[in-house]
Amino acid sequence: MTDLPRRFPEVSARRVYDSVLDLVGDTPLVRLNALTQGLPATVYVKLDHYNIGGSSKDRIGLNIVREAIADGSLGEGARIIETGQGNTSLGLALVGNLTGHPSTVIAKPDLSTSKLNLLKMLGAEIIPGRFDVDHTDPEHAWAIAEAKETRTPGSWWVRQQEIASNPDAHRLSTGPEIWSQTAGAVTHFVAAIATGGTVSGAGGYLRTQNPEVGVVATTFDLDEKPWKESNLNKTFHRLPGYEELEKDWPDNIDLDTITRIEARTKAEVIDFAFRLARAEGLLLGPSSVLSILVALDLAATAQPSDVIVVFSADHARDYTHAEYNEQWLRANGFAEIAERWFGPAEGKVQR
Ligand SMILES: Cc1ncc(COP(=O)(O)O)c(C=O)c1O
Repeated sequence: MTDLPRRFPEVSARRVYDSVLDLVGDTPLVRLNALTQGLPATVYVKLDHYNIGGSSKDRIGLNIVREAIADGSLGEGARIIETGQGNTSLGLALVGNLTGHPSTVIAKPDLSTSKLNLLKMLGAEIIPGRFDVDHTDPEHAWAIAEAKETRTPGSWWVRQQEIASNPDAHRLSTGPEIWSQTAGAVTHFVAAIATGGTVSGAGGYLRTQNPEVGVVATTFDLDEKPWKESNLNKTFHRLPGYEELEKDWPDNIDLDTITRIEARTKAEVIDFAFRLARAEGLLLGPSSVLSILVALDLAATAQPSDVIVVFSADHARDYTHAEYNEQWLRANGFAEIAERWFGPAEGKVQR
């Protein structure tokens, strides 16, 4: 049982801001209590859904737009083009609206309806694109982005997987925040990997402060699609020849910073998301839950002085139509999980 606080927090600062952009970064760390009972190490979660647009990608949205304006890639009124899973596009669209840069998003077909609707609220143009075909295929999101950039004078395709201002955002904010919040006591940083911006930037910063800090990149089971044929998979399994394939990697994945890669299955992660919600009151997106699962395994064999910081990119709310939805679970091969956390299907009102 957690002791209830006797009162609300003291007002520590005025917390009055001139712009929503001042509400990017400086997110809280919270300690895990129930799930770490009996484990030697301390585990903190960095809650990046506290950013104004709801995810860690506000950090890169802000830094990418700032740097692109400064280096001239993004001229006055130019259109920002980006592909991806939604969070980055939201961060870019939000910042772009405030700097006078409209957005075009090449969205994957299964982009969550909540993110799609938020992008529409922000006025972004949405063009469907695919990620399940080779990136040279004209239907691939990257090919569509490139064609849009060529056709639209003054527009700029961001390419978050290779642009330096992505990891730099985390080098300049996430890393220093964690270092300061733990007073330099952090021993491990655990974060999910996609473009590599978070792990390379925040992990890289922490390792410059203390080269002993372990940087653990987490990913969904690499034997599952779409990872099976990826170079991350080949590296994870230490298959010979992967070095030659590094040219296909997102440039922002810095292998020298990563000390370990850990994978978990989607089923393990979804199941644990419900346990996490009930035990700790943390409602977090699957990539965050994945990292917490890995961190708890790490904590079980850690030293008592170890301080593990897990990065949480976003909130559970964006996934209640899918991974955290009873009907979706039953229809997508996770009936056992649905049964465990929602009870039997019979006689229920379906929604
Ligand atoms: C929810 C979520 N978690 C984790 C990541 C991975 O972050 P990064 O691209 O910095 O590796 C992303 C970004 O794609 C994301 O949207």
